[in-house]
Amino acid sequence: MPEPEPSVVHTSPGCEVLQAQLGGWDNLNHLIVCTATKHAVVVDPFDAAYWFNVAESRGLHLIGAWLTHSHWDHTKGVEEALERGGEGFEVIVHEAESERGWDGPHTRVLDAAPHVATALHVGDLTFEAVRTPGHTPGHLTFLGHGIVVSGDCLFLGRCGRADLHGGDPAALRASLLYLRSRMQALPDDWVVLPGHAYELADGRVPHHLKLADVLSGNEAMAALDSDEAWAALPFLAFDDALARRARDQS
Ligand SMILES: [Fe+2]
Repeated sequence: MPEPEPSVVHTSPGCEVLQAQLGGWDNLNHLIVCTATKHAVVVDPFDAAYWFNVAESRGLHLIGAWLTHSHWDHTKGVEEALERGGEGFEVIVHEAESERGWDGPHTRVLDAAPHVATALHVGDLTFEAVRTPGHTPGHLTFLGHGIVVSGDCLFLGRCGRADLHGGDPAALRASLLYLRSRMQALPDDWVVLPGHAYELADGRVPHHLKLADVLSGNEAMAALDSDEAWAALPFLAFDDALARRARDQS
């Protein structure tokens, strides 16, 4: 069994979701499994060998990778996944990620407008891939079967940064408004699965939270209705090497 062993973070009828934190940037990777067909897809694979080993040890057929966005820490394992997966292995990304210069390996691009869903399938299960730009132009959030896989758009206690190349604070705010209204209409016990686990205001560092807890405790969502509160959020932009590189690229 690969190390660290992934944990089961959600089950719903016909669906099981595994999570593992991988790599030096503490990326949360998710494996979405159709328990009827044993088909599985991995979201944002950091380490392809890890997930193929997980699939093999559990008798699963890894059929594809879905990319929330194209930052390197969310796509590092894609090339190897394509090699390991062979013919028919699908790598799905939104075409707008090319606006930030990404030309990495993939097999299918989505072209949905912001806040429009595309149906994606894992075995018998259907999920929505909704374009939620702002952190990157073609960021996708995956919803369905009790989970919201939110990448670097929505973290549990806050949201992703919007100051990297292709980032857009206004687009991020619109995406979070969209997600908030979607999430308010979903059952409270759905689970939010972000791309990274960051410390909450109370010091906890959960790797997943119930949707209701995100809606009630997320700092970015709480600031959405006020221009002043939104502009004052300290995590939309940082003065670091990544931001300096983004300014050079723009
Ligand atoms: Fe990112």
